[in-house]
Amino acid sequence: MTTVLVLNGPNLGRLGSREPDVYGSGTLEDLRASLESTATEGTTIDLRQTNDEATLIGWLHEAVDAGQPVILNPAAFTHYSYALRDAAALVTKAGLLLVEVHLSNPHAREEFRHTSVISAVATGVIAGFGFDSYRLALDLIERRLG
Ligand code: DQA
Repeated sequence: MTTVLVLNGPNLGRLGSREPDVYGSGTLEDLRASLESTATEGTTIDLRQTNDEATLIGWLHEAVDAGQPVILNPAAFTHYSYALRDAAALVTKAGLLLVEVHLSNPHAREEFRHTSVISAVATGVIAGFGFDSYRLALDLIERRLG
């Protein structure tokens, strides 16, 4: 049994109504349902969202302590949170997979989104494919751990 932590940062609780032209019309609950139906037997999805940096950092510490792989959409924290980067580094330094995902392709957007302070400490990055970014990350984690 593997539990995959799917962690979502600020404003992602508004999916569905937040800039649907950029992020699509699906809600976070739709994402949860989609990942649960994609997950193979033996994989549990633990999807969470917070607007709070400290909470997100605490969840990454939890991943380290429980030895759980992580799919992380850091949202705007991607671009400036060194504290989140340090917590993400704890996950990968512990030998755990951490896949940074984005619904949109930040490189095709405003310049401040072109920098990710997380990517260098992530196992890998998938961006620009909407909910498929998460599904691809899940597939990858399952193949690596299977
Ligand atoms: C995002 C991209 C970020 O630049 C933005 O701040 C978000 C969402 C994405 O999934 O495309 O909140 O991480």
